[in-house]
Amino acid sequence: MKGIVLAGGAGTRLYPTTKIYSKQLSLIYDKPLIYYPVSLLMLGGVKEVLIISNEETIPLYKKLFEDGSQIGMKFEYVVQDAPNGIAEAFILGEDFIGDDSATLVLGDNIFYGKLDFLYNALENHQSGGTIFAYQVTDPQRYGIVEFDKTGKAISIEEKPSNPKSEFAVPGLYVYDNEVIEISKNLKPSARGELEITDVNKVYLEREELKVQKIGRGVAWLDTGTPEALLQASQFFGVIEDRQGLKVACLEEIALKKGFISLEQYEELLKTIPNSLYKDYLLRVLKEEK
Ligand code: TTP
Repeated sequence: MKGIVLAGGAGTRLYPTTKIYSKQLSLIYDKPLIYYPVSLLMLGGVKEVLIISNEETIPLYKKLFEDGSQIGMKFEYVVQDAPNGIAEAFILGEDFIGDDSATLVLGDNIFYGKLDFLYNALENHQSGGTIFAYQVTDPQRYGIVEFDKTGKAISIEEKPSNPKSEFAVPGLYVYDNEVIEISKNLKPSARGELEITDVNKVYLEREELKVQKIGRGVAWLDTGTPEALLQASQFFGVIEDRQGLKVACLEEIALKKGFISLEQYEELLKTIPNSLYKDYLLRVLKEEK
């Protein structure tokens, strides 16, 4: 399984910050937003990740993650010239994906809670597509799935003015290798984008789409607005302060998942400047020893 983090976009709702770099570098409490989706891929066992963003921000991501080897990962980078749509990720990522399956996560989507079902979906994906459905109060803003009485998904619509359900599709999509061909054959929508909803419709028509409902015990945050960024920062601030544990700490995850050895972790710590973040990493080291 290969992972793609789509971390560009227009980010008009966060202008003027997004005049300089893409929103996925915004601070969510104590770390950049993009750490959260990257941590999800790592916890799902994905070690090879392609980061797609605009020309201005790619150098910053390279500075942040380098080639990934310090945390047992392999990061690659591709520029998306313009926000031509989410499905363009599979065209830009064709060489990176090769013959493998691919999980795409949007760089501004955060999941928190008991996420084993998500990690399982990544680790045990066989064929077709797997997407998720999460109940929201503002369905007009998302791709919306309609289910029949037996719980089978029967339609998906992008940002419907009259939504057929309150179940939105979050920004986490798991597909087999067919997704490359499907994306290449898409026509841009009325708003000029290659729509991920159109990819999902193809899988649905082929009866190869699994739509898994996410229960109320999981938080799905979509951080596209100033209010949402503030709420997410407060949310993780409360949790981290209460437990004394960090969410989406990539170095800790790399160690605990066995992506790096204890020795490599100690070497890595030598490169990190004295900071509250390092204090936490040192505490993890002490506990692991
Ligand atoms: P959106 O929230 O749909 O859009 P946006 O980030 O451009 O923001 P705004 O609506 O304020 O203008 O994008 C969802 C995510 O996907 C977000 O992380 C940006 C990313 N994205 C790309 O990287 N490339 C694209 O072509 C699109 C459409 C989105």
